[in-house]
Amino acid sequence: MPEQASNYIIALCGKGGVGKTSIGAAIVKLLLTDPENRVLAIDADPAVGLATALGVSVAKTVDDIRNDLIKRIKAGEAKDKAEVLASLDYEMFAAIAERRNLAFLAIGRPENEGCYCQVNHMLKDILVSMADNFDYVVIDGEAGIEQVNRRVMKTVTHLLLVSDASRKGLDVAKTILDVADRAVCYRQAGLVINRLYGDDEYKGLDIPAPLRCLGWIPEDRTVRLTDMAGNSLLDATDGPAMAAVRQCLAEMGIGFGQSNEIGRCLSAF
Ligand SMILES: Nc1ncnc2c1ncn2[C@@H]1O[C@H](COP(=O)(O)OP(=O)(O)O)[C@@H](O)[C@H]1O
Ligand SMILES: [Mg+2]
Repeated sequence: MPEQASNYIIALCGKGGVGKTSIGAAIVKLLLTDPENRVLAIDADPAVGLATALGVSVAKTVDDIRNDLIKRIKAGEAKDKAEVLASLDYEMFAAIAERRNLAFLAIGRPENEGCYCQVNHMLKDILVSMADNFDYVVIDGEAGIEQVNRRVMKTVTHLLLVSDASRKGLDVAKTILDVADRAVCYRQAGLVINRLYGDDEYKGLDIPAPLRCLGWIPEDRTVRLTDMAGNSLLDATDGPAMAAVRQCLAEMGIGFGQSNEIGRCLSAF
């Protein structure tokens, strides 16, 4: 279970459009400020938005590797299990895109359920052992934790639930936490509210129990404009969202070598 993991496996989940990819990219950027950190970013959303946010290009997804193997199995070419495993291992490492001390892997489309379970298991085993090579793994989830569990990793150390100020967003976050609690698949979970215009808005929110709120991220023009231009947040000037993401992570005990003080959002705008 997660207690055994010596690295951080952070998964971002929440309703579509609330800011998972943007906050995921911000987390990666913060982690990369320490050149010693080995960081693996995994895009588990078929839309592959994290690649753009991080300025990496995807040549092959895990789904491409899976489909190639299935074709080979169907053609009777892949028979020996050890050989298949070795070639999968090689292909998965080859599919990693690199940008300085960042490694990036895209999962691709969801697989057809029910068939080729053995291939899926092998791929997941490789992902788990791959994660061991990194200090931090940041997973941009599709929506719920089920997808992350099924397609990427059974357990994560930190589940970061993201919501905007909407009732729907908060309810989705609560449902995801319920599911995660039933599956006991995380060590710590926290909620982050994105795109607020001030502390008054934050104080007025009715956050469903037992969600633990880590803080809030301000509406940040830099994030929006960078996304509009299809640029990477890694290359953008830091706006107020970055400092707020840093503080939310500090609430979960994830620091970045600088002051780790507990606090809410910096009202930096
Ligand atoms: N703090 C923020 N300030 C301004 N715009 C934001 C912020 N966070 C996200 N956005 C914008 O909201 C939209 C959805 O964000 P995104 O990260 O793609 O959400 P998700 O991955 O949850 O679908 C994008 O256009 C993004 O630029
Ligand atoms: Mg996204």
